[in-house]
Amino acid sequence: MKRFDLDSLIRPNIRALKPYRSARDDFKEGVLLDANENPYDTSWLLEGSEWNRYPDPHTIELRKAIATYRGVSPDQIFTGNGSDEAIDLILRMVCTPCKDSIVITPPTYGMYKVSAGIQDVQLVEAPLNPDFSLNPDLVLEAAEGSKVIFLCSPNNPTGNLLEQASILKVVENFNGLVVVDEAYIDFSKHGTMLGYLESYPNLIVMQTLSKAFGLAGLRLGLAFSSPEIINYLMRIKPPYNINKLTQEYALKALEGVSEVEKRVNDIIRERNQLMLEIGKIRGVSKVHPTDANFFLAIIENAQDIYKKLAQKGVIVRYRGDQLHCDNGLRISVGTPKENSLLVEALKEILE
Ligand SMILES: Cc1ncc(COP(=O)(O)O)c(C=O)c1O
Repeated sequence: MKRFDLDSLIRPNIRALKPYRSARDDFKEGVLLDANENPYDTSWLLEGSEWNRYPDPHTIELRKAIATYRGVSPDQIFTGNGSDEAIDLILRMVCTPCKDSIVITPPTYGMYKVSAGIQDVQLVEAPLNPDFSLNPDLVLEAAEGSKVIFLCSPNNPTGNLLEQASILKVVENFNGLVVVDEAYIDFSKHGTMLGYLESYPNLIVMQTLSKAFGLAGLRLGLAFSSPEIINYLMRIKPPYNINKLTQEYALKALEGVSEVEKRVNDIIRERNQLMLEIGKIRGVSKVHPTDANFFLAIIENAQDIYKKLAQKGVIVRYRGDQLHCDNGLRISVGTPKENSLLVEALKEILE
């Protein structure tokens, strides 16, 4: 393991930052005249909670529940307004604009590049191999002097898990942060890096309730790491980044994980069936194996097919413009009815 010194990695202004102290840091109960809230509840609009009050800035109950579910401790969890917020905060925590760089592994999720662009942070690309596996030596070479490496496993838009041994090689030989984005990990039977957090202080694992939990509209993303890194993220986040509705409903979802798991199994079953059917359609040259709730299909004239599908009301994602994804359409698994509509539409277009 390379020597890892978190404090020297954190931007000096962030290290010196005196975080905003919100009224709810100190007291949550009593005669609350400290936060310029409206004293009247809003039950005429929405029953069930004191919506006139600010939410818990530390998401204590929620982090406890997530900790129990994932087998980590609450101080190893950051809760973000989607994992997109975590991506942005990780970047801003360590990358000085116009000076620092990050590494991504195309083809990959688009927000790492967007967040780097916003922060004016240089982007270094270390492509995946043509079979979408990770090339750890290439990544390490590209990462010389960089602050963060973003890996995505299962990868978007290709669906495959990255090999754990390759990820670990990167983590062990890099003295910056390695972020492993596991947005789709619950569709995979194995492969999470959460078990390595204790061994590697430079590892951050991101997950989200947007996919397997079916709660994209609630906006809850998670970053798991050492308590020291989580503490920095908590210091730089907006004070009330997780609203009360999200906190309450995410807690309920965590109490009902058996429902979530049932749905995940349904989606996996449907996915396998859909991949078989699509693979048989004339003009489909490859359906890439996947560990996610989507897959990449290679179809002759994919851009044209994409447009024709849209004309029929079936929307998939054209990814043929991404590295190693020529003629690629990324297809999310829908309900059985939606999947049949897709297959029918594709057959009409291609056969
Ligand atoms: C790999 C990956 N990471 C993160 C996200 C964003 O997730 P969230 O909804 O939690 O912001 C997505 C969304 O599509 C994704 O594909």
